[in-house]
Amino acid sequence: MCGIVGYAGKEKTVPTLIDGLKRLEYRGYDSAGIAVISENNLVVKKAAGKVSDLEAMTRNLTGIKSAVGIAHTRWATHGEPNEVNAHPHVDCTGRIGIVHNGIIENYKALKTYLEDRGHRFVSKTDTEVIAHLIEEFMKKEGATFMDAFIETAQAIKGSYAIAAVSLSDPGTIYATHLSSPLVIGQGNGENFIASDASPFLGRASKIIYLPENEIAVVAAAGIKTFDLDKRKKDPVFEKFEGTLESIQKGNFPHFMLKEIYEQPERIEDAFRGRLLLQEGNAFLGGLSPVWDKLLKAKRFVISACGTSWHAALVGKYMFEEIARVPTEVDYASELRYRNPILGPDDVVFVISQSGETADTLATLREAKKRGATVLGIVNVVGSTIAREAGVGVYIHAGPEIGVASTKTFTSQLAVLTLITLAIGRGKGMSKEKGKFIASEINSLPEKARRALGTENLVREIARTFKDSRNFLYLGRGANFPTALEGALKLKEISYIHAEGYPVAEMKHGPIALIDENMPVVFVVPKDGIYEKVLSNMEEVKARKGRIIAIANEDDEYIDSLADFVIRVPRTLGWLGPIVNVIPLQLLAYHIALELGRLIDQPRNLAKSVTVE
Ligand code: F6R
Repeated sequence: MCGIVGYAGKEKTVPTLIDGLKRLEYRGYDSAGIAVISENNLVVKKAAGKVSDLEAMTRNLTGIKSAVGIAHTRWATHGEPNEVNAHPHVDCTGRIGIVHNGIIENYKALKTYLEDRGHRFVSKTDTEVIAHLIEEFMKKEGATFMDAFIETAQAIKGSYAIAAVSLSDPGTIYATHLSSPLVIGQGNGENFIASDASPFLGRASKIIYLPENEIAVVAAAGIKTFDLDKRKKDPVFEKFEGTLESIQKGNFPHFMLKEIYEQPERIEDAFRGRLLLQEGNAFLGGLSPVWDKLLKAKRFVISACGTSWHAALVGKYMFEEIARVPTEVDYASELRYRNPILGPDDVVFVISQSGETADTLATLREAKKRGATVLGIVNVVGSTIAREAGVGVYIHAGPEIGVASTKTFTSQLAVLTLITLAIGRGKGMSKEKGKFIASEINSLPEKARRALGTENLVREIARTFKDSRNFLYLGRGANFPTALEGALKLKEISYIHAEGYPVAEMKHGPIALIDENMPVVFVVPKDGIYEKVLSNMEEVKARKGRIIAIANEDDEYIDSLADFVIRVPRTLGWLGPIVNVIPLQLLAYHIALELGRLIDQPRNLAKSVTVE
């Protein structure tokens, strides 16, 4: 939520910052702003709307002489998305500019304190207090900007990544963070700070994951870091090897479609070097430090939010059916406030694409506090959850830019299949069975590729149903979460109401909704409960519901029940979601496309949810 970027260097500062914002726009896109220091002036521009609106507004500043600047793309929390509430915010003198990602929880008290001292506020944001606090603390005798910045960091409570510039120290950006991400990029004669590394892809060769509560002082000439007592620290520079291609759309009209099509390769990436076909096993180095605990655990708990929670729910089916470990799945936002019963006999998996989701991070901390073993399943390398979990597995899906998760869902599932196989074998599964499962797992990328071949039919179905106001998605077993995920994708990007249900639950309520206007999407692979699902389809058909079935290629019976049949390859029941979800992602995509929605940046959403 919200993206911040800062630049200190000799290249054109304004275009560099705008470019950085574009790459961070997935984090928030309701307004944007920029502040650069030029010839002893703090030039601030803000625009409601997209970064492209800000870009148009700042075209005349492209060549402005400036060696330092900060910028922000917003996902509103406090104060509606408009120009006044957009960041950067400035102090009363207009000499200090700041950008902020997160929430200042004690901003009301601070605002009163500052107003009592004569500060004038112009916005409705929590953020503005930061600029005024720095201004206020600068008034103390002998105080430097650094002193005032540190005092401000100590006065605010909540979650924050902050970057500040000031005319009193015109070549420098000051930055710090707590519970919101901040990374620093070191380039050649230029340095960056940002919410993630994408703004400095192609320009920085080293990265610093700034520890929380440390201060970064970033100038073109170098980067210094300090603790809150102004003691100099030795930052850890890591090699940074991201590629620009990974954050470009290529020939695809939308990132979401590109990411849907990447899935076969990304699943292969998740398996590479980890799936051991000959041994019928999987080896994940990240699990080694806790391997004994994994085998001895009385219970697994998987916690996550949104799509990652759907992956967690599939994980339950995998862990219980194959690895035979009792598994609970919990929304991170619920678990953290429930006084959960967790202890040393439990292994808690937290799943997160971004590795920054506030609730998932809080769950991780809570589980650790209670003595449980914690493992992260994360996409973004170096993210807070990845670092704090310490132990875990990267899904290697690469940057996901489309706000609606697609490839990271299937990559999360891919990693869960490997963990399931490894634990299953560790707990006594025969090599023969392991080999059979490993070869089925190995066939998933090819099956995912075939599932992508359904796109033309899916487009036709999308045209047929694009005006429906409601959809029902039904699935059973491991495909119940597939149904939930299909419904979530549709809601997110088309704004059509959709519900996912376990098939058999339909008659306990949702069946009342069914009439000739209700499209019902059944995920109905030929697995152990196939016949039962057919009976439920009959019930929908009897009430004139319109049926779209995701069924297997060799299913000859299904045409007699469904209005449309999307055929995908058959696999083991618990592996099915990896293949079956693909047409559902495509269906949401094509309906949203038909309706002219902003597919990669749906309204009200942000990719990285760093607030509760
Ligand atoms: C849905 C979606 C969200 C995220 C959720 C958790 O398409 O993207 O529901 O899955 O916000 O995010 P992560 O996985 O980053 O923790």
